[in-house]
Amino acid sequence: MLLETYNRAPVTIVRGEGCELLDDRGRRYLDFIGGLAVAALGHAHPAIAEAVAAQARTLTHASNLYHHEPAGTLARELVARARMSGAFFCNSGAEANEAAIKLARKWAFRRGERERTTILACTGSFHGRTLGALAATANAAYQEGFGPLPGGFAFVPFNDTAALDSAIASRVAAVIVEPVQGESGVHAATPDFLAQARRLCDERGALLIFDEVQCGVGRLGTLFAFERFGVRPDVVTFAKALANGLPIGVMLANERAAGAFRPGDHGSTFGGSPVPCAAALAHLRLRDELDLDARVRARSRQLFDALAQLARAKSKVLGSPRGMGLLIGVPVLAPYDAAAIVAQAREGGLLIGSAGGNTLRFAPPLIVSESEASRAVELLATAVDRARQRWSTTDDVCSKRA
Ligand SMILES: Cc1ncc(COP(=O)(O)O)c(C=O)c1O
Repeated sequence: MLLETYNRAPVTIVRGEGCELLDDRGRRYLDFIGGLAVAALGHAHPAIAEAVAAQARTLTHASNLYHHEPAGTLARELVARARMSGAFFCNSGAEANEAAIKLARKWAFRRGERERTTILACTGSFHGRTLGALAATANAAYQEGFGPLPGGFAFVPFNDTAALDSAIASRVAAVIVEPVQGESGVHAATPDFLAQARRLCDERGALLIFDEVQCGVGRLGTLFAFERFGVRPDVVTFAKALANGLPIGVMLANERAAGAFRPGDHGSTFGGSPVPCAAALAHLRLRDELDLDARVRARSRQLFDALAQLARAKSKVLGSPRGMGLLIGVPVLAPYDAAAIVAQAREGGLLIGSAGGNTLRFAPPLIVSESEASRAVELLATAVDRARQRWSTTDDVCSKRA
């Protein structure tokens, strides 16, 4: 039996096809959360399945004691596309951020700056559930009961450049920031905040880390989120969508930072395993072939327009959409409740997520079609109406809150 670390919906998924998931009763769902921003190319993409099967028949594991072709090729591809220097592979977003935090501290250590250990993160941040990543996560509810957390973490208000200026002092080894925060309710950084972070890190001798675990890998209409903002970090982390559903994480570091890790400094048994790397390589090839970035931008415009229109039509319940690309949040206005709309949407055949601040979260596959995007907004409109009917006819949590 699974430990109850998640509030799972009462649905058993048995199959995926493109932008749809099927349950054990044969019901189809339009998947607009994409396995939490993972299924960039949709579910069961034949080219990914073929790459995985071919690699599994050839070599599934060799360990990091040796070189192998899938990890080497993927590292070269990612480093070239990011214009960085080196890649470290692991298995998840939290691990990629752990690697980035460790790299930043080792980088300062190797420069003889042993007091420079602080990792500066932002309010609203989410960097993962391992202890180091959790210490950089500004969410008291996620941290509660897990102390003592590692020390050396501090926070600045997200998008507050003056606070950043005051906070980046001589003890700061790195600033870590999500270009678009997902968990906090889908909030984009301002280009100025990221540009100032870059300038201040250079000026004060700290590294700049972008956590692109959720907003990267094409979700904003560019492979790297940083390309949308025109600010280059020293270190960037990816996971989630990279292998389109297989576990993988990667930390990419530029010339300034990469040399801080030497043999024995960090590791992972499964990091850069051949099968996820083969899936990631197939993903990168496909995104080029499909011209995915142009598609993401077109679908993003369509969804932002349609959701803004829906918000105007249902202005008592929904606020204006926010976010970027295909990472979109729609605030649900008090006293109404995002979780109830998510549940009604699921009943109606649409899977969406919720995020902090009573927000609906949309992270559909990047291959989503125009008609699927229209259908999703129609299903959402119905879900909002159904939730409102329930709120008005039952004495539920929502009316009590009001
Ligand atoms: C921005 C960000 N960083 C890190 C993580 C952690 O990734 P994982 O769950 O793969 O450890 C997440 C997961 O949602 C995330 O959204």
